[in-house]
Amino acid sequence: MNWIETVTKPKRLTRLGLAALLVGGMPLLCAAQSHAAWDGRVLACGDDAPPVLNSRYNKGANGDAPPADQLQALGRKIFSDPSLSASGQQSCASCHSPAHAYGPPNGRSVQPGGPRLNQQGVRSTPSLRYVHAPQAFTEHYVDLMDNNGQDSGPAGGRTWDGRVNQAREQALMPLLDPKEMANANLSEVVARLRKAPYAAEFNALLSPPGTRILDDEEGVISWLTTAIEFFEQSPEDFHPFTSKYDAYLRGQAKLSPAEQRGFNLFNDTQKGNCATCHPSVATSSTFIYPRFTDFEFFALGVPRNRQLTANRNPAFYDLGLCGPLRQDLVDQTAYCGKFRTPTLRNAALRKSFFHNGVLHSLREVVDFYVTRDITPERWYPKDAHGRVLLYDDLRTAYRGNVNQDAPFKPLPGNKPRLSEREIQDLMAFLNTLSDGHEVTPRANRTIRSPLPRHLATAR
Ligand code: HEC
Ligand code: HEC
Repeated sequence: MNWIETVTKPKRLTRLGLAALLVGGMPLLCAAQSHAAWDGRVLACGDDAPPVLNSRYNKGANGDAPPADQLQALGRKIFSDPSLSASGQQSCASCHSPAHAYGPPNGRSVQPGGPRLNQQGVRSTPSLRYVHAPQAFTEHYVDLMDNNGQDSGPAGGRTWDGRVNQAREQALMPLLDPKEMANANLSEVVARLRKAPYAAEFNALLSPPGTRILDDEEGVISWLTTAIEFFEQSPEDFHPFTSKYDAYLRGQAKLSPAEQRGFNLFNDTQKGNCATCHPSVATSSTFIYPRFTDFEFFALGVPRNRQLTANRNPAFYDLGLCGPLRQDLVDQTAYCGKFRTPTLRNAALRKSFFHNGVLHSLREVVDFYVTRDITPERWYPKDAHGRVLLYDDLRTAYRGNVNQDAPFKPLPGNKPRLSEREIQDLMAFLNTLSDGHEVTPRANRTIRSPLPRHLATAR
């Protein structure tokens, strides 16, 4: 069967088409290869081995694998090319803005898309920093360092519900999503790429001797997604580790007293308890720096975002792990309302928060954690009888899934876990997690943790 015939039928595309494309593709987990050297450069994160080339499309112009830096440069161009979208105006970078830590460039809850840029999905755009090598999705996450070898349930995968593992597989989702870049099928993506300003470069780099890759639709898609994947592993762009907190870990910066107090509150299991889900030290044996997420899933009872078009339908609920975007776990009602924990790195740069973008400042998010169950009327609407609709974005049956640990659980006497002063300290710490901290050359250079040499020096 002709490959393109198979994949242009939308229903079968996700299953057959992608399977065909990804056969021989790369397995994401490569735990044994810590600090993999790739093209002469050591990657910042141990588990982040280079993308493995598709077994069928693995040779370029010289008859060898194309140089990684050239694939990465090509991926960068593809990432910011609006001509790959039906509107002609939207690239990956429109939503994942390089100037905003590859997160959204504005405070909209959800970025618009579609052929006329007037469609709206249901999810806020995550930052693509520090999510470059999640563990593959599992329902039974076990890590000796993170959770003492206990099964702590679902973790891993990409997107808010972990429904895709490989970066190349993920890259096709926005290209084909009718509410995002809105290509009708993969052939349309290929036709657009053939007209892109870098088409000649693409062809020259990726056509093995005597062939023309642009004539091979499957080959174009395979290399396009591979190039994006290489780009998404560029340390400078996606995991620079240049926050003040990283400088502090390297002994190149001191935390201010407020930041230090905030750090302690962040870690204190009776106070912020944030580090339980957003680890502030490298928890996994496979990573050197903390990513402020362990990719586990929780239901926080985030308020329904009544601004979203989809939510005008009172019967519609985005339940994360149990659907409807993700379809394989719809029967697992214990998962309903659970979303993957996002990184807190660069969160201070965002203007929309949580999976539905319902909150619009970091301070509001912290207030939500501290007062969700103390002053719920601040977060949830009331019904006709004046009763607060607690956890209003979940059907009643699933409300028991909502996390009740600190910082949500109030102290005796219904007291908040953090005072105003403590919230300010916590905010000060969260602000140390944004990239781009300037390191002064004279800073104390004592190294606090055993880091590989390239990480122990200022960038
Ligand atoms: C219209 C806005 C928009 C565009 C355009 C867009 N994305 Fe996204 N991106 C999102 C949203 C929203 C999510 C979360 C999706 C979900 O949870 O279902 C996301 C998720 C991701 C993720 C997963 C991140 C994680 O935390 O696991 C990656 C990787 C990604 N996008 C890469 C890309 C690439 C590559 C392109 C271009 C081919 C692109 N995106 C285009 C909005 C966009
Ligand atoms: C029980 C696990 C858990 C704890 C404890 C926790 N978080 Fe979260 N955090 C999550 C999950 C899961 C989400 C995503 C929820 C959603 O969107 O539905 C999240 C989202 C966030 C976001 C939004 C980031 C974004 O990109 O939208 C911020 C900011 C945040 N948490 C900060 C904190 C702080 C500060 C604390 C401590 C006061 C904390 N979290 C405690 C699990 C947790």
